[in-house]
Amino acid sequence: MRLLLLIALGLVAVQGQDDQWWQTAVFYQIYPRSFMDSNGDGIGDLQGIISRLDHLKDAGVTAAWLSPIYKSPQVDSGYDISDYRAIQDEYGTMEDFDALIAKANELGIKIIMDMVPNHSSDQHEWFYLSENRTEGYEDYYVWKDGPEGSIQEPPNNWLSVFKYSAWKYSSIREQWYLHQFAVEQPDLNFENPKVVQEILDVLKFWLDKGVYGFRVDAVPHIGESQGFEDEPKSGYPGVAEYEHDYLLHWYTHSMPKSYDVIYQMRAFLDEYNSVRPGQDERIMMTEAYANITATMWWYGDEERDGAHFTFNFQFIPLNQDSTAGDIVDKVNEWLDNMPDGKTANWVVGNHDNHRLASRVHPLNVDGYNMLVHMLPGVAVTFQGEEIAMPNGKVTWEQGHDPSACNGRPEDFDRVSRDFERTPFHWDDTKNAGFSTADETWLPVSEKYHENNLAKQKTEENSHFKIYQSLTAFRKESTTLRQGNLKLTNQHNVLLLTRNLNKDHVVFLFNLGDDSVTVDLNDHFDDIENLNVIISSNYENDRKLASVNNIQLPGHAALIGTSTSQ
Ligand code: NOJ
Repeated sequence: MRLLLLIALGLVAVQGQDDQWWQTAVFYQIYPRSFMDSNGDGIGDLQGIISRLDHLKDAGVTAAWLSPIYKSPQVDSGYDISDYRAIQDEYGTMEDFDALIAKANELGIKIIMDMVPNHSSDQHEWFYLSENRTEGYEDYYVWKDGPEGSIQEPPNNWLSVFKYSAWKYSSIREQWYLHQFAVEQPDLNFENPKVVQEILDVLKFWLDKGVYGFRVDAVPHIGESQGFEDEPKSGYPGVAEYEHDYLLHWYTHSMPKSYDVIYQMRAFLDEYNSVRPGQDERIMMTEAYANITATMWWYGDEERDGAHFTFNFQFIPLNQDSTAGDIVDKVNEWLDNMPDGKTANWVVGNHDNHRLASRVHPLNVDGYNMLVHMLPGVAVTFQGEEIAMPNGKVTWEQGHDPSACNGRPEDFDRVSRDFERTPFHWDDTKNAGFSTADETWLPVSEKYHENNLAKQKTEENSHFKIYQSLTAFRKESTTLRQGNLKLTNQHNVLLLTRNLNKDHVVFLFNLGDDSVTVDLNDHFDDIENLNVIISSNYENDRKLASVNNIQLPGHAALIGTSTSQ
């Protein structure tokens, strides 16, 4: 009785929605520098993407979000933009971009741009104008005097996410400017309505070119407390004085101004959509690492809408030791906190975090990919996840990531984001088929001989084949898109169903090494039979498993369909 009650408490019931194209879409993140190099310079580019768009079609994704391809000195791999309306030479030209949109439209894939409002590059024209106090541009960035005009001591103790003070003195302007990321990434000043307008104009520019929306970068950093108060120490053990975590970010993170700017961007998109009735909605997704309450406000508040969805990073900390119970908790935390009527999304990796295949047990990677697709809402894939690509190997000397290169060599392995950014493994030829260059911008991982797309296309039940089945099933199954979710666990086995009328989709995932017997009727009503349609590490009983006695070997994951009488 007690057990039944506990299990009942573990179940959540959430309805999927698919009124709009994006609500059940698969968003595929392309990291252009490492996707495909068309001209042999060792750096991925737009023609490379165009030449491999058929892979996205083949994988069955709905939309591609491109990490920044704007003109940029590449201090932070393009997240330092020097012209929001131009393409970085290494990546190609505006004609190439137009060709990309045309090809994507032909294939039915929507292109999403990365938008970086918090900061520009210090090479942006706005920064020159502001640093020189050109009329109209004086307040485009966050400028402050040092204490009593000091040129040695910064205005306050704020720290950069990339280490050390978040302030840099300009001897031209004779003031300090704020940079919450690299020194070369000055923060734009969103207290200035002209800056908000500039960003809205940039959105319009790309929307008019045919993009379907934006992934908006680093949104919690957009605004700062105008009191510019010192931040208190965190007291976190083992954190050096110059590291961002040394302080609690009471005055620089998740400030009301940041939400206000995102809500203004949403209003702008709504307006853009409203004059294009019948067209697919243009959308916005936000990137914020924050506690669950602050995260949910990106969706909007009582009065205003915000992002169409804000990235759900709940699964990012999951690792080898995570259990089925941990997954249930993470899913419930998101769904219990998400405002009514909003759309969920599920993310297991990106260019800022170690790859899924290197974080979790290697035999559980398919199970996690299935999980992302079985939950209600949007599924997000970082390039390479469809082939379970692991982290690459990069040394301190080869590193590019400023967050690691600004620090000490001994911290490189812990801090660097270069490992998840190494080039895509297309096939078993030179440089994994990514480039003909003798040297690529980051080294290609040697693991490509074993792990590559071409190989997985020829194998029967490869990671890629499973991924393809997942995206295909998503398109075909109304139950998967719209059905109610129920989720629970039996020790280290995750059990999930989606239900619509008499139809059920069932997902079982044994995260542990030991074989487990599952009786579905212990957990769910109405599941009388099961037709297994997708599976990993599960050889027997593919067609029809008895629902009262399902033998799940260690790391087995399976998806089945069921119709009740
Ligand atoms: C988040 C991006 O994903 C990351 O790569 C970048 O370094 C920071 N924002 C700063 O733009």
